[in-house]
Amino acid sequence: MSTSDRFYVTTPIYYVNDVPHIGHAYTTVAADVLARYWRLRGREVFFLTGLDEQGQKVQQAAAKAGIDPQTHCDKLAPQFENLWRKLNICNDAFIRTTDAQHKQVVQRYLQELFDKQLIYKADYSGWYCTFDERFWTEKDVADGLCPDCKRPVEKLSEHNYFFQMGQYQDRLIDHIKRHDQFIRPESRRNEVLGFLQSQKLSDLSISRPKSRLSWGIELPFDTAYVTYVWFDALVNYVSALEYLPREKSVGHGWWPANVHLVGKDILTTHAVYWSTMLMALNLPLPETIFAHGWWTVDGEKMSKSRGNVVDPNKMADEFGVDAFRYFLLREVPFGQDGDFSLTGMITRINSDLANGLGNLLSRTLTLIERTQGGVIPPPGICGPAEQELEQAAISLLREGLPHHLEQLEFNRALEAIWHVVQLANQYVDKTAPWTLAKDERDAGRLKTVLYTMGEILRCLSIAIYAVMPKSAQTICAQLGVADEFAQTLPIGRMRWGGLTPGTAIRKGSSLFPRIDSKIQGAKLVTESSVPSQPTVSSLPTAPPAPPAAPQITIDEFMKVQLKMAKILSAERVPKSEKLIKLQVSLGAEQRQIVAGIGKKYEPDTLVGKTIVIVANLKPAKLMGIESQGMVLAAGDADVRGLLTIQEEVDPGTKVK
Ligand code: MSP
Repeated sequence: MSTSDRFYVTTPIYYVNDVPHIGHAYTTVAADVLARYWRLRGREVFFLTGLDEQGQKVQQAAAKAGIDPQTHCDKLAPQFENLWRKLNICNDAFIRTTDAQHKQVVQRYLQELFDKQLIYKADYSGWYCTFDERFWTEKDVADGLCPDCKRPVEKLSEHNYFFQMGQYQDRLIDHIKRHDQFIRPESRRNEVLGFLQSQKLSDLSISRPKSRLSWGIELPFDTAYVTYVWFDALVNYVSALEYLPREKSVGHGWWPANVHLVGKDILTTHAVYWSTMLMALNLPLPETIFAHGWWTVDGEKMSKSRGNVVDPNKMADEFGVDAFRYFLLREVPFGQDGDFSLTGMITRINSDLANGLGNLLSRTLTLIERTQGGVIPPPGICGPAEQELEQAAISLLREGLPHHLEQLEFNRALEAIWHVVQLANQYVDKTAPWTLAKDERDAGRLKTVLYTMGEILRCLSIAIYAVMPKSAQTICAQLGVADEFAQTLPIGRMRWGGLTPGTAIRKGSSLFPRIDSKIQGAKLVTESSVPSQPTVSSLPTAPPAPPAAPQITIDEFMKVQLKMAKILSAERVPKSEKLIKLQVSLGAEQRQIVAGIGKKYEPDTLVGKTIVIVANLKPAKLMGIESQGMVLAAGDADVRGLLTIQEEVDPGTKVK
């Protein structure tokens, strides 16, 4: 089998210093989509994920939990593996860097580089960041803080072993320039090139003295040292191939990887450290390293201290695995940063999944059940409306979908699918099969329409399979057709007309139930870090569901005039803990607003923010000060955050 018949995709191996979060789920789901897509297209796939178990971070986490590092890793590993099973991840292998075979490969490579004199020993003195496990130079840490994580750094002087990374600088620049798919997206490729072209690439310290760190792989040529965690971790992509693929004989046949998926923060380690290590080992470079963006949560950085770490287990339990997978890949272009919010997720699920695809399926099955005795009818003559739909489905399956998925444009792939969902729902609205069902003379036409609805759903099941495998199978099962996803389905076999008339449908429960927007965010964050630790008690708990609010008409809502306003000045109202007096600009006019946001914000952090206000509220006095409007903020009694928008807009712009 040639390399072009194969597809090797990897995720980063995750540190086992804590339980998995949405960032881990994001990359792993994306890799899963690629693996499923290529398998369906007929390639042989190897999909690798796993855990980074050595190094300082893990040693520290274990110490905090009061257990030895290996026990700590063994306790946490199942949390990742179980999450992958829950999220329907089809990885072929799960590497752990404490595997004996992995350690052997790392040591073999170290010895090889040492023998080639590409590793040497030298004195080193620099600023060390324990969190990032790396040294920084004097100019990087002007303020005594790590430029990356902003934690304090410490001055360290020690002997260490160095890999001659610097000598590969020109070769790496040349490789990047000649392979435009090597680092993606393009903006990241330019960043790496800019960095490599603007400064001299230094050598890489690849050891840590055991006196400072004991949890690591011993250097084969000096037992007083362990390997730097990144040297060890990056090797996983190759070491795994020696002992994890099911057919043992293939070994390096899988290398080079087609895609390494990584987050933007670990692009340098992959594009520079890993590439130069491979050059030194005379191994080919991966075809693509794709760096995706980061998720914030409700506009804020996700962190344990903020208590907003999104737990993928809870998301899947609450909203369904496929809805969660869909949201992750639909919401944000892969490669860009995105914001995670429950409102955003619920809106997507309700509009795209429940009202879009779910509704199409339930209308189709109900109509077939009621008018055709639950059996797929034979189509009659197809008119322009049917041909248009057939065209749309075929071009989606043969062109749009492959193009976008192969470019890792997951959101555009989903957009293209949902365009067809929309066309299909419009077709149903236009042809109105429920009206056709009322007149015997339209019986033939009704059969054509219902067949077309069923067939478009079958095509859509193929289209969504990589992102939503379970739903794709459910659609097939409900249509009464065997799903084809266990076998390969090359592009040529993606045809119109696969549904066999006479097949009995099996209407089941609703594919995507509508989500009640009352679901509380607090339930969805991680509750425990390391299993042996007690549950964090300070996390917000879900408040009792509020009584359902009375409904209002659109006309009533339109009476409320919302506008963007820029805060010009802010000061505390004397003797009040909560109230802040704001002067805001609405463009042409200026207003004074007294807002109860003083527990959440310091006045000077507010100046310059563009917020949303109710502009036609009757003025009122609060502690004797006139307020000419009201600011909009999330939260109830305690304010969680003011409503702002990311785009630049002029003060005074209407909000609706
Ligand atoms: N162990 C290293 C990787 C070694 S690969 C040879 C590591 N592990 S990690 O667990 O800290 O991070 C793993 C991945 O999670 C990274 O790709 C990182 O970008 C990603 N994310 C961490 N937080 C994230 C978000 N908030 N959003 C999206 N991805 C994020 O680094």
